[in-house]
Amino acid sequence: MNQYAVWGNPITQSKSPRIHQLFAEQTKKSLQYQARLGDEEKFEQQLLDFFAQGARGANITSPFKERAFALADLHSESCLQAKACNTLKRLDDGRLYADNTDGLGLVADLKRLEWLKPQQKVLILGAGGATKGVLYPLLQEKQQVTLYNRTAEKAVSLAEKFAKCGKIQTACLHEMAEQSYDLIINATSLGLQGKYVELPSVVFSTAKVYDMQYTVDMQTPFLNYVRSQGAMACQDGLGMLVGQASYAFELWEGVLPQIEPVLAILQAEMK
Ligand code: ATR
Repeated sequence: MNQYAVWGNPITQSKSPRIHQLFAEQTKKSLQYQARLGDEEKFEQQLLDFFAQGARGANITSPFKERAFALADLHSESCLQAKACNTLKRLDDGRLYADNTDGLGLVADLKRLEWLKPQQKVLILGAGGATKGVLYPLLQEKQQVTLYNRTAEKAVSLAEKFAKCGKIQTACLHEMAEQSYDLIINATSLGLQGKYVELPSVVFSTAKVYDMQYTVDMQTPFLNYVRSQGAMACQDGLGMLVGQASYAFELWEGVLPQIEPVLAILQAEMK
């Protein structure tokens, strides 16, 4: 039976084992997928041991995505662009192939929602790992990206790095108030502390709002805030989570599972 695991620290909260179990049932594949706690000191050795024992693939989550990227022998284009890896596959010759399916997962979810139109104006909040992971696929989809970050220099440096991939710029709060956006994506880690980035309320009059964080009934701090500011269409990141997992599953098992049925089961189970 093919062995897989998700590695992170903390890891008990991970929904990946359940998602991959549901994918396996849906596609009639037999596999084992566990959650593993990565050690800050020994993560690389843990991962090498895992593959040496015959594992076929791994998902990597916070805080190890950059370290997994560095450990891998080969990388996909989106992984190279993000310099972070969320999916590893052991090749037949033993080398480790690194991919980053986070951005594809987001794009798949935006397509599911019919929220992805070419040349849209997309405002992304945050310039950390979550943003880096999704910029390349969004720019490939011809999205016109504006980055806003508390630490402006980080946004500027990301925009410079990705300028070769498409249209990308930065904005500060007052510039934002003079623009209109089709889509706002929250990629900050603030929600984990129950907080959110406050924006000029005018930006919510036209935009759909997507939060990469997820929670029961889409009640994330950011989505609750934007609803109070009059935003009409809001979605959380559970679909992105299932989407990124579906591309990892395809890389490993050769079949792309359907997102919708699994998303519906997870939503029901989270209540
Ligand atoms: P992740 O991998 O989740 O993206 P990260 O790389 O640490 O985590 O990035 C966190 C993002 O949330 C950053 O954009 C960060 O802004 P800074 O670059 O200014 O730190 C943003 N963030 C975290 N706490 C924040 C806060 N209190 N206010 C505004 N932005 C915050």
